[in-house]
This record gives sequence, structure tokens and C-alpha cells, in this order.
Amino acid sequence: MAYTLLVRNCGELLTMDTGRPNEPLRGRALRDWHSIPNGYVACEQDRIVALGPMAELDTTQLTPATTLVDAAGQVVLPGLVECHTHLVFGGNRAGEFQRKLQGESYLDILAGGGGILSTVRATRAATPEALLDRALHHLAGFRRYGVTTLEAKSGYGLDAETELCLLEVARAAGRQQPVRVVPTFLGAHVPGPEYHGRPTEYLDMLATEVLPHLNPAAVPFVDIFCEQGAFSVADARRYLTRARELGFGLKIHAEQLHELGGCEMAAALGAVSIDHCDYLSPAGAARVAAVSGGRTVAVLLPLVPLFLRQEQYAPGRAFIEAGLPVALSTDFNPGSCPSKNLWLAVSVACLKMGFTPREALAAVTCNAAWAIGQQQECGSLARGKRADLLVLNVPTAEEIPYWLGENPVQQVIIGGQLQSA
Ligand code: NIG
Ligand code: FE
Repeated sequence: MAYTLLVRNCGELLTMDTGRPNEPLRGRALRDWHSIPNGYVACEQDRIVALGPMAELDTTQLTPATTLVDAAGQVVLPGLVECHTHLVFGGNRAGEFQRKLQGESYLDILAGGGGILSTVRATRAATPEALLDRALHHLAGFRRYGVTTLEAKSGYGLDAETELCLLEVARAAGRQQPVRVVPTFLGAHVPGPEYHGRPTEYLDMLATEVLPHLNPAAVPFVDIFCEQGAFSVADARRYLTRARELGFGLKIHAEQLHELGGCEMAAALGAVSIDHCDYLSPAGAARVAAVSGGRTVAVLLPLVPLFLRQEQYAPGRAFIEAGLPVALSTDFNPGSCPSKNLWLAVSVACLKMGFTPREALAAVTCNAAWAIGQQQECGSLARGKRADLLVLNVPTAEEIPYWLGENPVQQVIIGGQLQSA
């Protein structure tokens, strides 16, 4: 068969491929992936079938039907993988932003019945159609930033019926536009308002009334928020253990505001990712790396401390030196990060967490794919992978995080299809 799409004249083709496809990138490997100067990528239907230097392009595979994309000497890389979002919610929290600017803290607002619980009220009051409409709006925004695969958590329903509805909305959103959506069940975000002060009973309700009704093939991950005001390490361990027995992959929001030990607990259970980690110490990171054999990815969310006016950022540099695989994400949600700009997260990771540009780019592609179990499909450019590609408007990888807050995306290709702007 002939090429259906060819991206040519790639000034730098960032493959994110290290030749070690069987584990997430850690240590030196996070920056040692191959880039090809003056390269091309060829696709047949939705798959990459060839890539390399332009001089080696097999022009006999081109036909009048081949879609030609000229990268004009600029950077080409895999589509971004956004591995941690709370995509589906009603309302917004602009009012709380004002309160935060006046000095109230995230946990104070939550303890007063606001925060996550105020979004729960707005979400329960919204129709599924309205929630879907907003989710599609946000997905279109992510796509313009070059996101081609995205994880979407539930967690603003906090009762069995609404949580199941939010997962259905996420799945429907995935079917109705090109960005691939991977749903995660985060019913254990905080105890539902009907279970105020009874977190253990709330988790028991989820474990008996929701988890058995979910199919891990459709909703592959179960997540929990382990924090003061949310769930304890002991409760989280019990709940995640039950989820694992039922065949789900595990995720945790942990060490966001305090070092409680949630990351290590989840890694010991084989969690695919531990997320936030702002208060995870370098010693704790080394223990996580050891207990997980380097399989658990720490998903760092640099826009969250920025938006919460918090000084403490996850010590990403120390995590990398400790051999912990790291990914980066926005954590898009109405409370702690209303931004979809994953490029900004890349820049802030360089500025505040000690990432180099090359490391940060691997963290939003290859390792982000590992963090949501999509490493076979996306996150790097190699034969057989899905043809999810971006053409940027900068000539080198190093320049990407320099243009703080800009969107460098010129062209987005998803599954071999060139997307319109
Ligand atoms: O990942 N930390 C817990 N959950 C979300 C925020 C949710 C919200 O404030 O609405 C997070 O930051
Ligand atoms: Fe989150």
C-alpha cells in the first residue's frame, strides 16, 4: 500500500523513542531519546509506517492521493498526551478565584462546603447534554494545543448515578470528536455531601454500588484523592485494593498538600501513576521508584501550585535523579487549574521543577502515555504507532518552553488525518 500522508522537511523530528519501548523513561533516558534532523514521517491510514532522514524517503510510495504536509524546517513531534484532567464538570469557580486572591486557602474553601463541593452542586444541576457540550468545547481547546489523547476523570457527581453519568459523558465526548479520551473513575474525590464526615462509608458505597457496574475495558482506571479533608491512606489502600481485585488499573492524587504516604502506598499496590507529588520528598521518590521497579509514573502538575499560590512545587529534578519516571499534565479542572495550556505546564516545569526542555517534552508524550496505559498506541514516533503528530512553529526543541504561554502548534494530525485549525 502507498503512503496516505507524508510529513516532510521536519527540521527536527523528535521521536521520543529510545529503543527501549518496554518501560517508561527515567534518569538519563528521559533526555536521551532520538531526534532526526531534516526528517520525514510517512503514514498509511491511521498508522506510522516509516520515518527517517529525508534523504532516505522512498518516493515510490507517494501517489497523487498522498496528503503532503510540509513542516518547512520546523519541529515535528508526537501528539501531546494529556494524562490527568477533570474534563466533565458544570459551572466554574471564578468567584473562588477572587477569594483565593484575598488569602483563603484551597482546603479552607473546601472545608466550608465550597471548592470541589461547589462544582458538585453545579454538576448535579446540569443536564447530561449540557455537560457533554462543555466537555466537547474543552476537548476542542485541547486539540488546538496539540493534545491528541486525553485522560478524563469523573469526580464531580459523588453519588452513584451522577458518577456513572459523568463517565458516560466522557466516553460520548471521545466518540464525537477526534481526540482519544481515556476515562478514569474518581468517585473517591471527596466524600459526597450526603456522607459528610463518613469517608469510609462513602468508599464502601462506591465499592459496592459503582465499581461492580464498571467495565475495566471501558473505564480502565480507578483514582482517589488521598489528603486531609478527602481520604486517609488507610481508607485509600482498602479501596484501591478492592479496585485492583476487580481488574482496574490504579491512580492516586497524593502528596499534593501534605506528605501522608499515599504515593508510596499506591506504588506498592502497582499503581500506574501517582499524581501531584508536590510534597513527596526525594527520599520518598526513591522509595517509590524502588517499590514499583520504575513502573509507576509520577504525574507532576506545575500549573496547580501556580494557580493555588503555593510555594511548594514537586522537586522534579530530584525525582529524575532518583530514577522515578515523571510525566507532566495540566490537571485541567475548575478549581486548581482552569488552564488547558500543556505547553505552559512544560515551561513552568522547566522554571520551577528543574526539568530541561528535552525532559519536559518526553514527560508530555512518552511518559504521559505510560501514565494512562496508552504506551503501545501513542507517545512516541515509531513504526506501527498511531499517526498522531504535531508540526510546530519553532525550529528546535529547546525553543519550545522559551515562548512562555504561547501555543506553538501549526498543524495537528490525529490517526493520520490532518485536522482543520
Ligand atoms: O487534582 N486535588 C484534587 N482534585 C483536583 C481539584 C479539584 C477541584 O478543586 O475542583 C486536583 O487538583
Ligand atoms: Fe486532579
